[in-house]
Amino acid sequence: MRVTMLSALILASATPALIPLPNQVQWNTGSFALTRTTPVVSQGSSSETLDRLREALALPLRSESGGDSAIFLKKGPGMAAEEYDLNVDSHSVRISATTDAGLFYGIQTLRQLNQNGQIAACHIHDAPRFAWRGLLLDESRHFFGPKFIRKYIDEMAAHKLNTFHWHLTDDGGWRMEVKRFPELTKIGAWRKEQGVEWDYGNLYFPGPGSSAKLYGGYYPQSELRAIVKYARQRNVTIVPEIEMPGHSLAAAASHPQLQCELPADVMAKYLKDSNSQAPSMVCPGKDSTVEFYKRVLDEVMAIFPSKFIHIGGDEVDKTLWHQCRYCQSRMHALGLKDENELQSWFVRQMDAYLASKGRRLIGWDEILEGGLAPGAAVMSWRGIEGGIAAAKAGHDVAMSPTSHCYFDYSYDSIPTSRVYSYEPIPAELTGDERNRVLGGQGNIWTEHIPTPPEGRSDDLSASRRPRGDALDAA
Ligand code: ACM
Ligand code: ZN
Repeated sequence: MRVTMLSALILASATPALIPLPNQVQWNTGSFALTRTTPVVSQGSSSETLDRLREALALPLRSESGGDSAIFLKKGPGMAAEEYDLNVDSHSVRISATTDAGLFYGIQTLRQLNQNGQIAACHIHDAPRFAWRGLLLDESRHFFGPKFIRKYIDEMAAHKLNTFHWHLTDDGGWRMEVKRFPELTKIGAWRKEQGVEWDYGNLYFPGPGSSAKLYGGYYPQSELRAIVKYARQRNVTIVPEIEMPGHSLAAAASHPQLQCELPADVMAKYLKDSNSQAPSMVCPGKDSTVEFYKRVLDEVMAIFPSKFIHIGGDEVDKTLWHQCRYCQSRMHALGLKDENELQSWFVRQMDAYLASKGRRLIGWDEILEGGLAPGAAVMSWRGIEGGIAAAKAGHDVAMSPTSHCYFDYSYDSIPTSRVYSYEPIPAELTGDERNRVLGGQGNIWTEHIPTPPEGRSDDLSASRRPRGDALDAA
């Protein structure tokens, strides 16, 4: 496009789009000109925060100890965590906050203000309304790899989202290395290529010796630790999700001892009808299943410092439990009246275990069925009712209803305007119940998203790909 004098003038004078819109924005006259020699004066900010500023503006920004024409990053008392103040005039840019997280968000706003080196004079004061500003990525159905994940975290941070809910396991594949159980990734990370279209059936994990064409990938623990650090440097907490006891086909295929014990004809019919290698749910009746997930959670907690650990809990098909002798014997022994109570019992084991390590369990709203574990927080997805019920019972909730927050749905059904219109606190909540709403979250499930927009990530090292990996062929 040819830029005429007039359009250049219009471009230069348009106020920049700030997303999310800060609480207070006042535009003043004039602007600050950024150059390669603009200095930065740190008044208490960390060296990491200075690095983030250089990154955000793509300028070297040498450090100076004083002066008056510069970018000032000043830490001082009096503001909430993540709150900041940003003042721009023709001489200086001044960001102040009480924490480095606050400075970081001032820097993200500055990034959005930067229009070809000109920062419009303004005064902005901002603080988030919610502590949980989440975005989920499902890497089980499709796998994107570490380079894409860093970009995802960058985009989250630039838009002041602070909670990355990483859906690392599901029927379609297990993506986290667990040293105690290497089969989870040797077998469970590599499914038989289904074709471009995701298929809820046709889930087979033939194992490393197979000549079948495989699709998958996983994160070694060293990579996970590096990503956790990368996220922390951008004020993003990663909440890992290890699905149980449903959406667990990849785990059940890797570790058949996790499966229910059923009459052979019942299992054969189930597998034939579902056209898959293993049931999608594991057996909560076996003590060994409970132990298995505690050992998995040990490694999860060692890598992810997040207070909350997500254990899934959604859409569990409990019909097989009704026919499993371990499940039935557990139910009889504990006097559980139905399979919902059996799931609830299983979730309570995980809740108590996480609590004993100083962590907190969060799960999808189905964990309310059969009774909610004492310390559990609920992620409301099937609507807002689960969130309302949990908050009224005194539990923390994160709101992520399909009506507004499922970003994989068609644009027709959830346009941007609908997302923007979302109010995370349901009108049904009053008084202190309203404080139980930690915030909201957008979800990106990837059944229909086989690749990132720019194509498949190519940063997966060859050593991680078994023979026949579909990524090699791509
Ligand atoms: C979900 O979308 N099944 C949580
Ligand atoms: Zn069972």
